[in-house]
Amino acid sequence: MRQLIMIIVCGFLSWQSAAQTLELRFDGQVMQLSLAELKQALPVKLVQIDDPVYHKTKRYQAFELTALLNTYGVVLDATKHELVTTALDGYAPPVPLSALASAKGYLAFAEEGKADFQFESVTLGKSTTSPAPFYLVWQVDAKQAAQLPWPFQLVKIEKVDLAQQYAAMFPKTTSTTRNAAAVQRGFQLFRQQCVRCHSINLQGGVVGPELNAPKNVTEYWTDEHLRGLIRDASSYRYRSKMPAFPELSPQDIEDLLQYLRQMATQKISKP
Ligand code: HEC
Repeated sequence: MRQLIMIIVCGFLSWQSAAQTLELRFDGQVMQLSLAELKQALPVKLVQIDDPVYHKTKRYQAFELTALLNTYGVVLDATKHELVTTALDGYAPPVPLSALASAKGYLAFAEEGKADFQFESVTLGKSTTSPAPFYLVWQVDAKQAAQLPWPFQLVKIEKVDLAQQYAAMFPKTTSTTRNAAAVQRGFQLFRQQCVRCHSINLQGGVVGPELNAPKNVTEYWTDEHLRGLIRDASSYRYRSKMPAFPELSPQDIEDLLQYLRQMATQKISKP
């Protein structure tokens, strides 16, 4: 009996320690990093975070995300890549690289003053859970915080090639495309704000209509009305299920239109 318990305990411990490594995937490489290895390679920072998951100010022991990426040689170009973080339950939100440029992301592994992987429990509806092993937090104000992913029980960080991940909706601009920068910015905005509801070439959400094939919206809406609709769909249709986007600047909306127009030249034929 005692032996059996030992086996169960050992099994549990090895499962736990397996889960407590961070998998880093990039450019065909896969690294399994233990906390000890991470601590050897990177400075531990104490960070104070206005945490929207706990709804209060928290202090964590953490690694700076950009330092981690630099240390292991993960090279990122915002127009070509994004980071996808994966949690134990498979939840996998992308981290837009524009966020890394404008905000400080940290990979927390414990609360300040606590042992490794020790966090106060998070309440989610009726259940509580620990954010361990890793929890991605951001040093930002509340408005920015709402735009960023805060994945906890994080076990994997992966560099993803956008042209592969979003094959059908990736704008194929080249160095000679006149408005390439605007188109790529529009694509990023589209992924952040629109793709959860709309597809392009049937890639993306289904809450709203497909916007490219067989007819691209810019072919049957005027620019002026598209601008108005994107800013505030309910000024066009009562009970619209599309949210208003007051935070998009006029430039953002122009970039979105440039992206949509580019995709009119890349339509899929029949599904
Ligand atoms: C929460 C889901 C949702 C999001 C997010 C969303 N939309 Fe929509 N959108 C809809 C729905 C639903 C419609 C269909 C008409 C309606 O309900 O108003 C629509 C309609 C449209 C139309 C008109 C299409 C047509 O053929 O009539 C355009 C263009 C459009 N959306 C663009 C965008 C853009 C650009 C974004 C991102 C900035 C966006 N939408 C974000 C749900 C969404």
